[in-house]
Amino acid sequence: MAFEQYAGNAHIIGRNDVNDLTAILSVTNTDVDEVIHTVKDNADAIFTWDYEKGERPALNKLYEKAKHSQWNGETDLPWDTEVDVEKLATEMGGNPQIQRFREAANTPGSPFEHFTERQWTDLVIEGQNWRLSQFMHGEQGALLCTAKIVETVPWIDAKYYASTQVMDEARHVEVFAKYLDTKLTGHYPINAHLKMLLDDIINDSRWDMTYLGMQIMVEGLALAAFGFMHMLTGDPLLKQLLRYVMSDEARHVAFGVLSLKEYYAGLSDAELRERQEFAFEAAVRMRDRFLQQEVWDRMGLDVKQVLPLVMASPQRQMFQSMLFSKIVPNCKKLGLLDANGGWLRGRFTELGVIGFEDNPDTGEEYAMFQLAEGGAAAGPTR
Ligand SMILES: [Fe+2]
Ligand SMILES: [Fe+2]
Repeated sequence: MAFEQYAGNAHIIGRNDVNDLTAILSVTNTDVDEVIHTVKDNADAIFTWDYEKGERPALNKLYEKAKHSQWNGETDLPWDTEVDVEKLATEMGGNPQIQRFREAANTPGSPFEHFTERQWTDLVIEGQNWRLSQFMHGEQGALLCTAKIVETVPWIDAKYYASTQVMDEARHVEVFAKYLDTKLTGHYPINAHLKMLLDDIINDSRWDMTYLGMQIMVEGLALAAFGFMHMLTGDPLLKQLLRYVMSDEARHVAFGVLSLKEYYAGLSDAELRERQEFAFEAAVRMRDRFLQQEVWDRMGLDVKQVLPLVMASPQRQMFQSMLFSKIVPNCKKLGLLDANGGWLRGRFTELGVIGFEDNPDTGEEYAMFQLAEGGAAAGPTR
């Protein structure tokens, strides 16, 4: 494998071959009944006595924008919409990924060989429960990370902005939890790969690593994933919920890009290399989580038999690379792709996602996602 030429690969992600299924599956959530999960937060809380508002005009502009963009998850969404999960699942059962598994079912010995119509429907329903659950857990990760940024970032404009993001993330956790509780049919515990990533981000003592892990990587991926689900879902409530959340997320990713651009310009090659490795680790963790191993488990299937089919699916590869459509240009803007002889460019090339490097970065395009005055959805994702 090309990956093995980097002696540090196992050190960074715990395995040499990025596609090593056995290693990926060996990471599982062993404490699915825990109610409280404690992570050591190693950072110093920083006061600044420099209160000059607007010293960083781009952050100040974001802060002012955020104050006008608050919405209320209880009253601004049509919660009285009836959501028929069976019907939606049947409609979504026509999607190419499911169709491909159906074709695979014709092969003798296929894990799907004896699947009934009921099981095909359940597979779609469970997939949706799983995805929304992971969104909810990720949103709580964002809530904790942003609260941490308020404490650790040394700039007053960034503290002001981050405080608005804390409120945004509370609202996101709230609406995803409410949607799961009142409209869907069950929660999933946090996926082990996502948990490992969130723990790593919160654990790190350096303030910029919180931004890099959360605003650039996790939220960059979320923005793309929400956009994808927004496009596919037939439920008008979920569509609107996602549209509102995305308008906030675009600001959050922009906050990361605009803050780190300044800071990373002053880092040494060795310091940048640590950031490149962290970005790569985050990318692999997020890629691993999308194998949704818990869903296959719950469907009573042998995960080891199913995953090679999942990994080989062209739809999955397209979907997976699309998820990086925001991350790659944002890393480029921060100088992370090309520092140290293009180390991260090499990793993203091998992950098959480098094609997005010339997409607009979110520091520039976030305004497109904003809601029009009065809360009406505007812009290309309407
Ligand atoms: Fe969020
Ligand atoms: Fe966010």
